[in-house]
Amino acid sequence: MSPRSTPLNTAVTAPRPGVTSRLHLSASGVSVVLDVTDGRAPAITYWGAALGVLDAAGLEAVCESAVDVVPQNAVDVPVRIGIIPQQADGWIGRPGLSGARTDGCGWTPRLVTRAITVDGEPLAGSHLETGAALARFDLSDQELGLEVTVEVELLGSGLLRLRAGLTNAGTSPYRLEELSVALPVPAQADELLDFAGRWTKERTPQRSPFAVGTHLRENRRGRTGADAAHVLHAGAAGFGFRSGQVWAIHTAHSGNHRHLAEKISTGRQLLGGGELLLPGEVELDADETYFGPWVYASHGTGLDQVASRFHRHLRSREHHVDTRRPVTLNVWEAVYFDHDLARLTDLADRAAALGVERFVLDDGWFGSRRDDTSGLGDWVVSADVWPQGLAPLIDHVTDLGMEFGLWFEPEMVNEDSDVARAHPEWIMSPSPERMPLPSRNQQVLNLSIPAAYAHVRDQMSAVLAAHDIGYIKWDHNRDLLEAATRGTGRAAVHEQTSATYALMDELRAAHPGLEIESCSSGGARVDLAVLERTDRVWVSDCIDPLERQQMNRWTSQLIPLELMGSHIASGRSHTTGRLHTLGFRAATAVFGHLGIEWDLAAASEEELAELREWIALYTARRELLFTGDLVRADRSEESLWLHGVVSPDRTQALFSLAAVGRSGESQHDRLRFPGLDPATRYRIRPLRIGAEPSGLVPPPWMRRALEQDGLLVPGAVLTEAGVAAPLIDPEQALLFDITAV
Ligand code: DGJ
Repeated sequence: MSPRSTPLNTAVTAPRPGVTSRLHLSASGVSVVLDVTDGRAPAITYWGAALGVLDAAGLEAVCESAVDVVPQNAVDVPVRIGIIPQQADGWIGRPGLSGARTDGCGWTPRLVTRAITVDGEPLAGSHLETGAALARFDLSDQELGLEVTVEVELLGSGLLRLRAGLTNAGTSPYRLEELSVALPVPAQADELLDFAGRWTKERTPQRSPFAVGTHLRENRRGRTGADAAHVLHAGAAGFGFRSGQVWAIHTAHSGNHRHLAEKISTGRQLLGGGELLLPGEVELDADETYFGPWVYASHGTGLDQVASRFHRHLRSREHHVDTRRPVTLNVWEAVYFDHDLARLTDLADRAAALGVERFVLDDGWFGSRRDDTSGLGDWVVSADVWPQGLAPLIDHVTDLGMEFGLWFEPEMVNEDSDVARAHPEWIMSPSPERMPLPSRNQQVLNLSIPAAYAHVRDQMSAVLAAHDIGYIKWDHNRDLLEAATRGTGRAAVHEQTSATYALMDELRAAHPGLEIESCSSGGARVDLAVLERTDRVWVSDCIDPLERQQMNRWTSQLIPLELMGSHIASGRSHTTGRLHTLGFRAATAVFGHLGIEWDLAAASEEELAELREWIALYTARRELLFTGDLVRADRSEESLWLHGVVSPDRTQALFSLAAVGRSGESQHDRLRFPGLDPATRYRIRPLRIGAEPSGLVPPPWMRRALEQDGLLVPGAVLTEAGVAAPLIDPEQALLFDITAV
């Protein structure tokens, strides 16, 4: 834990009992009203669609008209749901702060607000009307010796984020169990949507009623998880991509964490999140501080608007990637562990000839790593398979004009490795006598041990310094079971997560321009905290386009397309065994950061020619794909999905119509293209690349458009009236270029 950062009592304003402060933050169509009535702990009185400009009387009206009646058989005053919900305010659900001193005292604080600052300035006056801003509330329970900081920041994108910290201002240690933040949501939000999943099927949506009780998504994997809640939404039943008010949260943490939706018997309900701490993991000595992760909150009309706030936020980051995301070839499904210089230089030649711009060497280049049983953790180039080192391959790749990328799995070891033999005490385990169960034959290296951290950092740095390497694929292939520091037996997932972030930060600082891909058995580490220091996520080890239609669709609920690794693999999927046309594989993959993961030596000339065309399409459209707004149509039928990207000025769009199943009805609903301007005239052009999608029967308008290379159509026809859908076989896709004329 860190020592306390800012002493509380230096702040100028100190709300006292009887002193009320209210803040209205608004940006991009979202309002947040924060209320500190009578110097109590801050509560969000309103979070939703913009309320317009509010003067002091308006703010008072928002807050006072939100005060509830007192129901029968309840506490005698209206219950207040604070950002840190507490029993002292009458909240009978989960408290935001749980913990106690070793004698059992201090478990039920009554936090009150001691100081408020907005963008670093003490709050002047009793109300504030402002745009995007960071409000900080310093709370304390002086009797219990607890000080809490709550930060609430409304970002320019309309995305809201909250986090809380706890300082032990007492003299004895304080054992923290949980510090979560909560946002009340209105009762009209009576349906939940979040995600489940597993390896090769990440981010499977699940809907449920928002019922009395707690919908608690706890993660104890020590990594974000293939089954992470990802984004937890609450909305009016039946909310879709374009309709229904939706409130959503995402806990930005790559270690153990939770998302929850809780409704109590009064009907009041909230969304909340925070880090999940293991027993004894955070024990604060006097003056020590713990800070929880940011919990992001997005409100919008429909899932598209919720997603677009996340996307706008990510795109506004200083280190956000260039729109010229390089076409990438990853060798994993082409060669697996079979590293051979001649074969790989041949693959590089074939890739460069197609227009590939980045070549990534995956697992197997180091130590004794000839399969997944050995060598993990020894980040030294293998003399067995690379007798002349990596330079011949890297030089070959860079001479071809491509960037070189390399795979690492810095937090892991095989027990059969030099590092594990030399330092068994660096392996996470509950005791020296007992190892956690192995998973993929590996164990976890404890990066919270400074010497272990330095060892990994130095080995990685040496490889990066010796070669022209612009990109790391950072993998993490097992859950953290019984993840403790071996000598003490104390849980160490919290420390491990912080150490991983520090290692990423340090390597990026030491190697400016280094790009990092976040991979974890495919897509098990996709969250906004890891994306603070990474530039791409590997969505899934399943590259089957039918599965990817779903996984990409829902991964993009949080992150924009340019951050989603999206590859074209061989015709038969290595993980599902399904066969797909190149057209369906490629039309699926171009809505993401395009890559190839296919042994090109096994591809036919026709396939290579078609692949070249798809790569050209991607490079011509990537500016649009990576600056435009993602839109997904709500359709009455589930078998035909329509999604696209529309430029911010709505003059250009690329859409995909994908048959993801077979309908029970023989004719489809019309296609309505969301996001376009109804008042603009567009040319719509079905794209012809490679072989025609099988089973394609175009309706008359589309036949004309194909014959004339596009058809002029009023925007309102495309958005409202709709155009007849073609027939198309399942697992086929068709792309449309749409341009304003
Ligand atoms: C899991 C990743 O998801 C794969 O893409 C590949 O890098 C393997 N690990 C390598 O071991």
